[in-house]
Amino acid sequence: MKVLYATSEALPFAASGGLADVSGSLPHAMRKRLIGCRIVLPLYEDVPQELRDKMNFLTSLSVPVAWRRQYCGVFEARHNGVIYYLLDNQYYFKRPGLYGHYDDAERFSFFSRAVLEMLDFIDFKPEIIHANDWQCALIPVFYNLYYRKREGYENIKTVYTIHNIQYQGKYGLEILEDVFGISQEASSIVEQDGCINLMKGGIESADCVTTVSPTYAKEILDPYYSHGLDSILRIREWKLHGILNGIDTDSNNPETDQQIWANYTAENPAVKAVNKRKLQERLNLPLNSEVPMISMVTRLVSHKGLDLVKSAIQELLNEDVQFVLLGSGEWAYESFFKEIQTKYPEKMSYYSGFVPELAHKIYAGADIFLMPSQSEPCGLAQMIACRYGTVPIVRETGGLKDSISDSGDGQGMGFTFKTYSADDMMNAIHRALGGYFNKEIWNVLIERCMNADFSWGRSANEYIRLYRSLLKQ
Ligand code: GLC
Repeated sequence: MKVLYATSEALPFAASGGLADVSGSLPHAMRKRLIGCRIVLPLYEDVPQELRDKMNFLTSLSVPVAWRRQYCGVFEARHNGVIYYLLDNQYYFKRPGLYGHYDDAERFSFFSRAVLEMLDFIDFKPEIIHANDWQCALIPVFYNLYYRKREGYENIKTVYTIHNIQYQGKYGLEILEDVFGISQEASSIVEQDGCINLMKGGIESADCVTTVSPTYAKEILDPYYSHGLDSILRIREWKLHGILNGIDTDSNNPETDQQIWANYTAENPAVKAVNKRKLQERLNLPLNSEVPMISMVTRLVSHKGLDLVKSAIQELLNEDVQFVLLGSGEWAYESFFKEIQTKYPEKMSYYSGFVPELAHKIYAGADIFLMPSQSEPCGLAQMIACRYGTVPIVRETGGLKDSISDSGDGQGMGFTFKTYSADDMMNAIHRALGGYFNKEIWNVLIERCMNADFSWGRSANEYIRLYRSLLKQ
């Protein structure tokens, strides 16, 4: 089977969030299962030079972007045995950062069209094109409109994955023809509530729609979670599937991780204490092996549940705990946590930024990992925390619910709460702290966390099953 995985970011080339982790590891897991899966992404300015040095120029072509024609260079790279195509156009991609430019609509209209056009120029004819998030939503739309009947393009099936329904790619209708080259007669495919909504177009057009956990697949049928797309999804529910992401268990491995101070395994979790002490040193917190260290590694945006943390912070810091937070995002949260750190330097450490190396050190050094998200399509951090034996506290939503079960049943590996409320979160935190001070219980929990299987195997098999069923249709 041949699959082309189209994405706007993939590790190690370009990353801004969880999509890059998924794109960087799912195709590799497919390959291990003998599926010919290749990746295509834009060649951004941000792609590191050492990776550029290893790329080969394959070909160039001219791509229609509505009435324009734009140059597209196709480069090929190999990473972990997987082939990546990087599409070059300096006008669109030679800029700092991946998104947030005034002409993102045009940039990703170009990219989506280029992915389809390039198939005539490369020696890989996919049976499935798997497009991700709003940036690639136009691929199934364009396929249906312009390529379905083109010679050599017949019978390709399209899969569209929603990684977060909050980001839909919304634009004014006035650019429909000028930027996307979609005529007024076809406007209903991408039109929603009086504007262009690219995600809606992807949902309408793809043969199958997936999202990144079974619970989120149900949640987005509800207006509370859907950001306006519930009615369209309910009509298309028959083709909607939820498949839980995995994590890359090689780069997230406490036994071999070079970024942490001391390596350890589930058999020897006591070494974790070395990482805790070093982390306290690095973050200027009192050196104390007994005090429970609660951590968060997150973007500082509201759906991550930061309002709960904000409103419970005094109560939390009244406890004998250390609270460590790493992440950047909205100014209001950043300044709030900076202020708390100044007020409680002995208890709270806030580091603003996206620092993968420090993130690993926190996963390894902390005792408890907090993820009280208001919504969480999948979430990867809770799984990484488990792998490092850092016991998670999560709200029961999306992938958090599907990956972490409450230890109250005698089997689970963490602490969970249902309602989006600070009281319920604090309740779960108190239960976790109770567990922490009972060393016997705690060691069992650490072991369960570290032994949980979050590898890509199961998910890759589910995607492959889905692809097969589509090809039979
Ligand atoms: C998005 C979601 C996150 C998910 C990731 C990968 O970033 O917000 O929950 O884990 O995509 O699918």
